[in-house]
Amino acid sequence: MELNKKALFNEHGDIELSKRKMINGNTTNLNDFNNIKYTWTSNWYRNAMNNFWIPEEINLSQDLKDYKNLEAKEKRAFDKILSFLIFLDSLQTANLPNVSEYITANEINLCLTIQAFQEAVHSQSYGYMLDSICSPEERTEILYQWRDDKRLLKRNKFIGDLYNEFRENKTPYNLVKTMVANYILEGVYFYSGFMFFYNLARNGKMPGCVQEIRYINRDENTHLWLFKKMILELENEEKELFTKEKIDIYKNMIKTGVEQEIEWGKYVIGEDIEGLTLQMIEEYIKYLGNLRSQALNFGIIYEGFEQEPESMKWVNEYQDINSIKTDFFEAKPSAYSKSSVIDDDLDDL
Ligand SMILES: [Fe+2]
Ligand SMILES: [Fe+2]
Repeated sequence: MELNKKALFNEHGDIELSKRKMINGNTTNLNDFNNIKYTWTSNWYRNAMNNFWIPEEINLSQDLKDYKNLEAKEKRAFDKILSFLIFLDSLQTANLPNVSEYITANEINLCLTIQAFQEAVHSQSYGYMLDSICSPEERTEILYQWRDDKRLLKRNKFIGDLYNEFRENKTPYNLVKTMVANYILEGVYFYSGFMFFYNLARNGKMPGCVQEIRYINRDENTHLWLFKKMILELENEEKELFTKEKIDIYKNMIKTGVEQEIEWGKYVIGEDIEGLTLQMIEEYIKYLGNLRSQALNFGIIYEGFEQEPESMKWVNEYQDINSIKTDFFEAKPSAYSKSSVIDDDLDDL
């Protein structure tokens, strides 16, 4: 099976919803919000728009003081994790149009455009954070740490190579692999980073940066949900892309992602950060891997890690920025929170 680029100008495109397909469809490319086949996109779109936020409206003056006073091991972890997140959001901003170019359902292309916009906001928020808390030299050091730190580079290469593979060889199979890579990035990779920030909050440090991360996390949850739905629609429409052998490969990708995230957690967080242990990191990331794999109908990867670990229940409190009791640092989440609460898997979106 070949993979055809979606049309740009196509006066002969199909208007009938019954002919609309995720890939290799004949789209008119018209943005018609009233005539959609994948009806879940409508709620997703509104939800994502309601989540709009502006990085500079969060006050970082306390963070400027806190950053100078972080213990050496905390600062090391903070810098490395931020460097990783900065890279991932840049990669996302750049790669989403590559995926969208081969999706032939206009309502989904619109969602991907909103997602790409949000990834740009995330990148901008990192710029604002760095500008507010450190010197220009430190800023450059953090921005490009992923190029010099071998372990960080290895992680970025795994996802980067998968994205590149699709760019260089545009087959339906490589598209699914890119989408699964995207899903891993959104659903596993960010999480030990988020966890580190939330733990800083528990220790009363870097309140503004934590608030930025909470808004980012809320967006990432919707991105994760979007890719889950896209992959599930493809599973439904293109059975040959989801044979037992291929599912094993996708599942192994998730497994590799989980292993790398744990290894990374050991390297940047280790046993040195008050409030976090290696065991907590490992259990939590394995649980996330199971959650992600199951959501795509691939089954459990790690037996015995099906439930959220008791030791990590506190993470949810920070993740849920829309809840009433989120006024952790007198920040003002309610100013933006127009949408309802989003849980990790967004099943009731
Ligand atoms: Fe992002
Ligand atoms: Fe994202």
